[in-house]
This record gives sequence, structure tokens and C-alpha cells, in this order.
Amino acid sequence: MNPRNIYLIGFSGTGKSTVARLLGAELGWSNWDVDQLIVAQSGMAIPAIFAAEGEADFRLRESLALRTAAEAQPVVVATGGGAVLRDENRALMAETGWVIALEARPETIQQRIAAQLRQATPDAVRPLLDADDQLEQARALKQRRQHLYALADWTVHTDRLNAEQVVAEIIRAVELLEKLVDPQ
Ligand code: S3P
Repeated sequence: MNPRNIYLIGFSGTGKSTVARLLGAELGWSNWDVDQLIVAQSGMAIPAIFAAEGEADFRLRESLALRTAAEAQPVVVATGGGAVLRDENRALMAETGWVIALEARPETIQQRIAAQLRQATPDAVRPLLDADDQLEQARALKQRRQHLYALADWTVHTDRLNAEQVVAEIIRAVELLEKLVDPQ
């Protein structure tokens, strides 16, 4: 039987994409980034999808991309920050893998996103954080979703960790979770 997938959930700027890449390499698994898959499947950048189709249609594309990524079992999947919003996504992740939440304080998130924007990292522009007071917007949106991030099997607080340390924490967590399921 294939091992369970590993899904990284959490708000923007918590390091999901970077950590998924490193974790996939460490485990010898493929890794998928749901945002990148949406861009590949639609041929449109994420801000363009939000502008042309609105958030509801973006969420449908996100669910489709998540289902595609989940099929590559075993796979490490970096989800988008809002992927936890739809019941169907949460059910798929819980059924087929371990759900690991990456956490960070709003101030950390704001600093990381600002750095990504300065470096013109692809997907650095988050339409839902496009506000005059980006910190307040991140704080409010994150707070509304916190009960969904809290459903994860494990949570890693990333503020003081580099990506390699987060990867090590996730591997430790998954080993522990597997032992709890199969205590031999
Ligand atoms: C979103 C987060 C983004 C991207 C889109 C919507 C959200 O992904 O999916 O802009 O609703 O929080 P990241 O979490 O990779 O920034």
C-alpha cells in the first residue's frame, strides 16, 4: 500500500510551496503545488483568474487541481491558503493523507510576502491580500479561517524556523502519526 500523501495547509506566507519542494526531495516523492497546477490547467495567472472569474470560480479550479495532485500518491502537496474552505477539499485531504498546518504570525507573513514581491517571485501577488493595510487584511482573513487550519493532524509554527527545520519537524511528526495509527 502506498504511504499516505502529505498535504501542507496554512495561510499565505507560511512557506508551504518551499517546504513541499524540499520535503518531496527529502522523501523521494513528487511534489505538487496547487496554485501552480491551477495556472498550468487554466493558462492564466491567479490574479487574472480572480479578476476574470471571481473567487467562487477560482475555488472550483482549486478543488480540481487538488484532486489532480492527490492522485499522484504518494505526493507532497502544497495547497493554497484558501483550500481548506471547501468541505470537499478537507474531506479529500483527510481521507488520503496527513494534513500538516504551517503557521506564522501575521507580521511574519507580511514580511515574507513583501520579500517575495521584491524578488518578483511567481504567484507573489495574492488578490485577497490586496488592501491598503495588508497586515490588518492578513490578520482578519487568517482569523476567519483559523478554525479550519486547526483541523490539521499537526501544526508547525514556522516563525523562527528555516525551511529545512520545518521539513525535519514534518518528518518527525509524520513518523509519530504513523506509529499512532500502527503501533508496532
Ligand atoms: C489564497 C492563497 C493563495 C492563492 C490565492 C488565494 C487564499 O495561495 O491560492 O491567491 O485564499 O488564501 P498561497 O497560500 O500560496 O499564497
